[in-house]
Amino acid sequence: MNVQQLEETARALFAHDKGLLAMDESTGTCNKRFEKLGIPQTFEARRAYRELLVTSPGLSESIGGAILCDETIRQQKSDGTPFIKVLIEAGIVPGIKVDAGAKELAGHPSEKVTEGLDGLRDRLHEYFQMGARFAKWRAMIAIGDGLPSWGCIEANAHALARYAALCQQAGLVPVVEPEVIMDGGHTLQQCRVVTDEVLRTVFSELFAQRVALEGMILKPNMVLSGTACASQPTLDEVADATVNCFLRAVPAAVPAIAFLSGGQSAELASAHLNAMNMRFKSRLPWVLAFSFARAIQQPALEIWKGHEANILAAQQALVHRARCNQAARRGEYSAEMEKR
Ligand code: 13P
Repeated sequence: MNVQQLEETARALFAHDKGLLAMDESTGTCNKRFEKLGIPQTFEARRAYRELLVTSPGLSESIGGAILCDETIRQQKSDGTPFIKVLIEAGIVPGIKVDAGAKELAGHPSEKVTEGLDGLRDRLHEYFQMGARFAKWRAMIAIGDGLPSWGCIEANAHALARYAALCQQAGLVPVVEPEVIMDGGHTLQQCRVVTDEVLRTVFSELFAQRVALEGMILKPNMVLSGTACASQPTLDEVADATVNCFLRAVPAAVPAIAFLSGGQSAELASAHLNAMNMRFKSRLPWVLAFSFARAIQQPALEIWKGHEANILAAQQALVHRARCNQAARRGEYSAEMEKR
């Protein structure tokens, strides 16, 4: 394992206050988002949409890495140029989602475990050869009546650690994504307690599997109350709860924490990230960055709607969101930025 090379990759992803564009939706998820907007759910529509994303002018000024899925890493622009080449030439590091999705966890009703370890070593090798330099694996933890169970947390943390160790051996920086999901009526405090337990378990497993913390990225949820909770916290309450939870549970050797957006609106995700950096940035051991999918892409997708005539406007909306989040990394984002 070449830890120095992994560290360099991790640094490059977040240099100049950049972040990650997660564009690794599975075919099923992408189709669902297309269906809501009346976009055809075809291979060609997905390809055209991903071409729109990777060719957005100026994207590399605020995006250091893009996470692709297996379908996309093998796709090309309409002129035949592979997407991966487009990204590399723009100075954006290509990444790849390598998990095989969250499946029912046996013996644990309503809970899931992420699969995909079988054959992973060979797939990582292939992706590295193709040009990918980082990878992603997402585990899903739900909060509910008596949930999450210890068995669910433990099984997911163990799989994340096995994946991360294999990635590092293959020269890929693992993005370790334990997502405590927002669905439900839980409070901010309940989310903090669960996030804390999940992170402690994940880092204990990463330690057991000898993962070099300097050569990985954590992609967690922010500490939020559930979408159905009557009491929604202020920006400062979210910033306090999230940063305090992470200071206790995330070792200082980890170079970067890149949040998922989890279903927050694009503006709210930027505002939360901004509040954390504005208030705490100077005293944190890791950078607080973003690895959003919906909170970067959704406005662009809604403008595009599958029509060629809307491509430029959709690309401008995408780059705008990426710039807002870059500003949030600096603690310089404001609602004024939304008045374009
Ligand atoms: P969201 O930002 O839409 O939560 O997606 C992040 C992600 O990559 C999910 O795995």
